[in-house]
Amino acid sequence: MWFVQQLLLAFLFFFFLGRYLKMRWKARRLPPGPSPFPLIGNLWTMRFNMHPETFSKISKHFGNIYTVWLGETPLIVLHGYKAVKNAIVSHSEEMSGRPASNFMTDIANGRGIVVSNGHSWKQQRRFGLMTLRNLGLGKRGVESRIQEEAQSLVENLAAQNGKSIDASDLIIHSVANVISAVVFGHRFSIDDPTFQKLVAINQNLIDSLGSKWGNLYDAFPWLMKRLPGPHQNTFKNREFMYDFVRSEIRIHQENEPPEEPDDIIYHYLAQIAKTRDDPGSTFDIANLLQVVVDLFTAGTETTATTLQWAILLMLAHPDIQEKIHKELDEVLLDSSAITYEDRKRLPYTNAVIHEIQRFGNIASVGTLRRNIKDIILDGYPIEKDTNILPNLDSVLHDPQYWETPYKFNPKHFLDKNGNFKSNEAFIPFSAGHRICLGEQLARFELVIFFITLMRKFSFQLPEGVTEVNTKHVTKVTLQPPPYKVCIIQR
Ligand code: HEM
Repeated sequence: MWFVQQLLLAFLFFFFLGRYLKMRWKARRLPPGPSPFPLIGNLWTMRFNMHPETFSKISKHFGNIYTVWLGETPLIVLHGYKAVKNAIVSHSEEMSGRPASNFMTDIANGRGIVVSNGHSWKQQRRFGLMTLRNLGLGKRGVESRIQEEAQSLVENLAAQNGKSIDASDLIIHSVANVISAVVFGHRFSIDDPTFQKLVAINQNLIDSLGSKWGNLYDAFPWLMKRLPGPHQNTFKNREFMYDFVRSEIRIHQENEPPEEPDDIIYHYLAQIAKTRDDPGSTFDIANLLQVVVDLFTAGTETTATTLQWAILLMLAHPDIQEKIHKELDEVLLDSSAITYEDRKRLPYTNAVIHEIQRFGNIASVGTLRRNIKDIILDGYPIEKDTNILPNLDSVLHDPQYWETPYKFNPKHFLDKNGNFKSNEAFIPFSAGHRICLGEQLARFELVIFFITLMRKFSFQLPEGVTEVNTKHVTKVTLQPPPYKVCIIQR
């Protein structure tokens, strides 16, 4: 027995030593970083999550480019505007890949836009961009849909009669209705139980991506695929989304398309028909399903969370809220619906919207990339197919570009005469070939929703509440802590 125990111990010792030496060997040409443990890498130090604070701490020791290990897979992290820009803008094409295998990729089966790669990604992305453009963000297109949803949100909030409420559900349903109009061609009643389930499942899917289980899956895909756990529910939730989208596709197929198709599904079905005889075409129903899910998922939580930040920050800064009201009252003299163009006449409000995005920093550290060719970053040769994280959080807080990086301060976007001033380090939608596909849509939504709400309401703290907590909650997006607000008609 004693002998067997000793043999087992020796085996474990040499096993872990072997794994450790293998990692050290792989690391010899990579940028430096904290020492990894065999098997788990730096996951322990990172508390099994991608906390922006952890990355900031590591960069203090190792500089603007360093390596952390997710399990036994190295991840090169780029810190600060210059390092990030040098990678994703100057090497835009080389940096345009997504990791070949991780939780997100497996959920989407490598299809659609967000996680796909190569020829298929290029075709699906180009189609998505072109169709969003064709659907038109101008007067009669998507802009009027956003105006309608903003108006409907105003009515739903006004119906609360100023009581203390958590407005997050009403906001998320309004934003989900904008993207529903774009992809499905219609909106839903917010009381529709199927719509409520769709929004809840979507939220669940997103939350699971940033969970510990999701991060463990990224580190040990071979093991986690086989283990039970909450991550398996995510695959079930995906099936619910697919079933829902399949039924929408069926309805589109059964109906004669309108003369001017006005949603993504009609456009995509036409594209499948047009490219049927092209052997290089990647347009098919499986990709359509995932493109729709991608747009719905990426387009709902992001914008809704930013609007939730907006209200919380108005509660935390009543002086700023007052200045916005003053500007709106002076400039918007008639009662017509807010347009995206209006932002140009409202420099202070526009600066606040930008600062909400910078401070809220909902994309957190950003999304993993993979270099599709060998590249050199900051003098380090990075082999093709390495996972790389352009840390967006570090850009939106880079002290060389922002006067008070961790303080909410609209002056970041104002010159000394009170005119709107842009800042090159403002990249909440990322940059380069993989830049957010919905950037324009999201910008329209933020301007129209925020200004419409600010014109109609003032946001006040519930009675007895004197302090506002603006500390981020880390999920896959950075979220405001849950809060209640009294929404008073002006
Ligand atoms: C405030 C709102 C939003 C923010 C802050 C945001 C931010 C981002 C970021 C940081 C990325 C990752 C880019 C990278 O890989 O470096 C991304 C990707 C993406 N976003 Fe957004 N997004 C927002 C709204 C939207 C909307 C409304 C849509 C849908 C129409 C959308 C669709 C996408 C898609 C499809 C991708 C994947 C692009 C690709 O891999 O080629 N996003 N977004």
